[in-house]
Amino acid sequence: MDWNTFFFSIWPYISLTIFLVVTIYRSILRPFTISSQSSQLLENKRLYWGSISFHYGIVLVLVGHLIALVIPKSVVLWNAAPLRLYLLEITGLGLGLWAVAGLLILVFRRVAVRRVQVVTTPMDAVVLVVLLVSAISGVLVATLYRFGSYWFTGVFSPYLLSLATFSPRIDLVAPLPWLIKLHVINNFVLAAIFPFSRLVHIFTYPIGYLIRPWQIVLWNRKIKAQKIN
Ligand code: HEM
Repeated sequence: MDWNTFFFSIWPYISLTIFLVVTIYRSILRPFTISSQSSQLLENKRLYWGSISFHYGIVLVLVGHLIALVIPKSVVLWNAAPLRLYLLEITGLGLGLWAVAGLLILVFRRVAVRRVQVVTTPMDAVVLVVLLVSAISGVLVATLYRFGSYWFTGVFSPYLLSLATFSPRIDLVAPLPWLIKLHVINNFVLAAIFPFSRLVHIFTYPIGYLIRPWQIVLWNRKIKAQKIN
């Protein structure tokens, strides 16, 4: 078996199986361990700038990836006009750089602030390194192999969908430069370590608030005061 076969037709399934099984196990059997283990009380200023930049940058970049994966034809149509293609590429790159800047602040904070350093676990360090490799390799791919938003739709949309139908199209990814391969392989590493890390906090986003029954909050201080009078 050559390494392309391993990394692009076996590793994604190992990674996604670990992601799903361990995340479900942890959510059902150890729900109280699902947390971001915030260190905000230990240091807030650098956390604010790092966290805001990283989260906004990376979430918007990932929304872009998702759009290219789910509706590739719309992205191709959008890119048909050069001005729109440049706009999309520059926006993606800008957001990627924003995420990298945020991550670097977060790494610096973990290393430089003693109180934060003390509560940092080996897994926190692993997560930061893997995220850095993801974000920096993404930015390098966008810079060195330009118009990725265009060729993503011809290479990765069909490749990722072929994974979903259990018939991986290695022929699409095997000829790619190593940097692009590193970006993809590392993202499956990220998926595999996800359930063992504080990244699981992503699932604590309070979506339940959108569908739960109404809650009526009554303020009764005035009523009590009136009764006393
Ligand atoms: C297997 C899934 C993924 C594939 C196939 C993929 C592929 C790509 C490609 C082709 C680009 C270049 C886009 C362009 O030039 O416009 C890119 C950029 C980027 N990727 Fe990914 N990516 C994946 C997952 C991720 C994940 C999970 C992260 C973050 C944790 C990430 C972070 C980035 C960043 C920061 C950029 C630079 C910003 C941009 O140009 O959009 N990617 N990715």
